[in-house]
Amino acid sequence: MSSMQDKLRLLEERHRLAEAGGGADRVARQHEAGKLTARERIDLLLDPGTFVELDKFVVHDCHDFGMGSKKILGDGVVTGWGAIDGRQVYVFAQDFTAWGGSLSGAYARKICKVMDLALRNGCPIVGLNDSGGARIQEGVVSLGGYADIFLRNTLASGVVPQISAILGPCAGGAVYSPAITDFILMVEGTSYMFVTGPDVIRTVTHEEVDKETLGGARTHAARSGVAHFALPDEAACLQAIRRLLSHVPSNNVETPPFRDTTDPEDRETPRLAEVVPDNPNKPYDIVEVIREVADEGEFLEVHEQYARNIVVGFVRLGGRSVGVVANQPAHLAGCLDIDASLKGARFVRFCDAFNVPLLTLEDVPGFLPGTVQEFGGIIKHGAKLLYAFAEATVPKVTLITRKAYGGAYCVMSSKHIRADLNLAYPTAEIAVMGPEGAVNIISRAEIEGAPDPDARRREMVDHYREVFASPYKAAELGYVDRVIHPRDTRRELVRAFRSLSGKRDENPPRKHGNIPL
Ligand code: HXC
Repeated sequence: MSSMQDKLRLLEERHRLAEAGGGADRVARQHEAGKLTARERIDLLLDPGTFVELDKFVVHDCHDFGMGSKKILGDGVVTGWGAIDGRQVYVFAQDFTAWGGSLSGAYARKICKVMDLALRNGCPIVGLNDSGGARIQEGVVSLGGYADIFLRNTLASGVVPQISAILGPCAGGAVYSPAITDFILMVEGTSYMFVTGPDVIRTVTHEEVDKETLGGARTHAARSGVAHFALPDEAACLQAIRRLLSHVPSNNVETPPFRDTTDPEDRETPRLAEVVPDNPNKPYDIVEVIREVADEGEFLEVHEQYARNIVVGFVRLGGRSVGVVANQPAHLAGCLDIDASLKGARFVRFCDAFNVPLLTLEDVPGFLPGTVQEFGGIIKHGAKLLYAFAEATVPKVTLITRKAYGGAYCVMSSKHIRADLNLAYPTAEIAVMGPEGAVNIISRAEIEGAPDPDARRREMVDHYREVFASPYKAAELGYVDRVIHPRDTRRELVRAFRSLSGKRDENPPRKHGNIPL
């Protein structure tokens, strides 16, 4: 019988083999491609020394295509748990050096195991994706494995945060696991996602498109909106995951972590009186407003390059994490369109699911007109944003900086759909539409019949502006709770959210609502 020492040597040998993944050559190739290995990625993601690996010695049980004699300990995915800023997270990292990170039955079971543990223990799950998809030698076993993961992604949705980093290929049906998760981060130049690749597209639709254009980080961050973040390299990507998680609780029954701030809660924000112009036609950058009020000026913008007419992301106000949804007058005048509605709605629902209060900064001239929008279904897509705000039960504070026109007024977290506190600057204009448009409709006959139609139009516009283009009509009705000086914005917002920290609200019991998908 072998001694203890022999047995320990055997264990060490197994560890060494598992850690070698697909072997030195393939690791070298991975590095040459500008990518890190699964284990290097985990080391960068987690607090040092906290990773506890599971199923390190798992192997596949496939015998077809000569696979019976080919085994790699761990089978191409590294799984376990560790800490990010001291908080427990579960992680799986696909190892491209082992059969191109392709997914076998055993590999899928490893991922399912950590997903089950994450759900039972109320911890986030982070997936580091780098895979050639279904392991071809395993056939339907691999497809079943994917579906097992998709089910878990769905059941974990809204219970624990799920984050996907795409760090290499992610193609075919495999994309649907990340797609169900809360956030997708991609790395420029080395990652791509598509349901069907360039070759299939060429055959079927005769379109010529390269991998990067079809499904690279820029495409998904700016054009399709599939990716929430595009980062220049893997280290930045893994760092972004840590930052993102610092804003969200570990699960749906906790509140986001509090972070002490040295930024005074009553710091005045006089610059905002200049940033927000009183001329309703002048653009400005709403991100300046967000940074001005946030603790230490820090803003983690989500979906930065997609649907830039709306801005979403996380700040802290007096140490508390807050999700911001803001119209962006610097882009398409801040109009709501299909993409902006989808982007806003998804973010609002994430925040509501994970108890992150919502700040809405409103400066919106309305919905974007045009056949592209109407044919594209702006009715159902715009309704998603309305639905998301209306169903949200987290503390909701709205600040109208300038325009709040038409249906967009109702949608953008108005009092009527359960916003808790609605503030407005003196520059706010809250009406069915802008003065020019309104006068053209309601006073056309009178203008046309006047001896000097232009002068009469100007008079009517001025009159309309006086009556409606201000926050005071809404304030008289209690639709706006407070009209505030821009200088006091930070103090007002910190106070508002603090006053709502004990908020409890519920929706009627039901299986689930029927958001207009
Ligand atoms: C088994 C695979 C594999 C796969 C790659 N490999 N993909 N093994 N099943 N799906 C192996 C290769 O044989 C090779 O092994 C090693 O991984 C590295 O692959 P290379 O081709 O040398 O790497 P590269 O040139 O970087 O190309 C990567 C790639 C390419 C673009 C991912 O490998 C590729 O196209 N793979 C097939 C992708 C695919 O069609 N997958 C199935 C899609 S359908 P050696 O031993 O030579 O190093 C799908 C459905 C999911 O995934 C369904 C969910 C419902």
